[in-house]
Amino acid sequence: MHDYKSLEEQYGLSLYPKREAVLVRGAGALLYDDQDREYIDCAAGIGVANVGHCHPVVVEALQRQVAELMVVPNTLYNDKRSLLLEKLVQVAPQGIKRAYLCNSGAEAVEAALKFARVSTGRTEFVTAMRGFHGRTMGAVSATFTKKYRDPFAPLVPGFSYVPLNKIDKLDAAVTEKTAAVMLELVQGEGGVNLATKEYVAAVRNICDERGALLIIDEIQTGFGRTGKNFACEHFALQPDMVTVAKSIAAGVPMGATLLSDKIKVEPGMHGTTFGGNPIACAAALATLDVLVNEELAERAVESGDYFEQQLLSVELTQIRSIRRRGLMIGIELKGKVQPILEAMMDAGVIALPAGATVLRLLPPLVIEKSQLDVVVKQLHLLLK
Ligand SMILES: Cc1ncc(COP(=O)(O)O)c(C=O)c1O
Repeated sequence: MHDYKSLEEQYGLSLYPKREAVLVRGAGALLYDDQDREYIDCAAGIGVANVGHCHPVVVEALQRQVAELMVVPNTLYNDKRSLLLEKLVQVAPQGIKRAYLCNSGAEAVEAALKFARVSTGRTEFVTAMRGFHGRTMGAVSATFTKKYRDPFAPLVPGFSYVPLNKIDKLDAAVTEKTAAVMLELVQGEGGVNLATKEYVAAVRNICDERGALLIIDEIQTGFGRTGKNFACEHFALQPDMVTVAKSIAAGVPMGATLLSDKIKVEPGMHGTTFGGNPIACAAALATLDVLVNEELAERAVESGDYFEQQLLSVELTQIRSIRRRGLMIGIELKGKVQPILEAMMDAGVIALPAGATVLRLLPPLVIEKSQLDVVVKQLHLLLK
């Protein structure tokens, strides 16, 4: 038998802090390692497997597609791509009329930044402190965390960062040179921080007043995670662009930049080889069907409420606060999160950090109550 861990360590780039397990298969909210040990997955590939691992509807669509056609250049039409573009615009937040298909979150952000520049003729961007938008040069320039940015300086110029929910700071930062403000409505990597209703309304007004576009990064919040198909819906917010990726195709790499009529792009200005390829489009079409037919956004509300009630049914001295929308859950701890994550993993639950002291749970939206009960029981033991 191969020693998979040594192979990755020897031949991979050590960019990620690794945990011990070698995961080889999954179903719903469960994962299995190469020793056939079962885990409850509260990470979902970092917010990717919203419909659960290997959902049969997605598996079947993929199997059919790979036997039919795996590549079509964007210079030709394709059945799955056309159908997906229509469906994406149908489920998207208000005001979205078109979509650009790509392969990852960072690519969706990169396209949004380029489209904002050409549509406004402006070059400056305002983003949020503790925001995270990806690792490519534009996306990392938009990202607040210095350790992600500083080693790669000089970055794309023109970015400034304002604290979330401070209207006066945003008001001072957005000028007639600002191409766009870009925000996550629930910051994922930055600690599960929730934008307030007043702030979101003010952001929209300030952008309109100064002629700046509003880009909402829904890469982590999209497709049911927060209890609505998109977090924008909690605020009845009409964005000018929305970036999506992660859960759009249940694990097949895909991203998209969703666009309102304010975005003007000329032929040839931007493009991609793999974006919108038939395999990813077939997976995304099936994933969106599951999202709607199984009412996963509603399920995220129910399961999130249930989890929080059960968790708080006993006094837990290690918890400072809980920040949550649907099944996007941040538990701010009084101490470090790392030992808790390790103890959870030892007991068969995979969870995530969001900074040094926040335990982040992003389980598949299909997670069952009995599985949440196991997670709660464990947290009761670890955080009492
Ligand atoms: C809000 C947000 N934006 C952008 C990204 C980058 O996406 P990707 O890793 O697919 O490039 C992430 C990834 O975690 C994210 O959470």
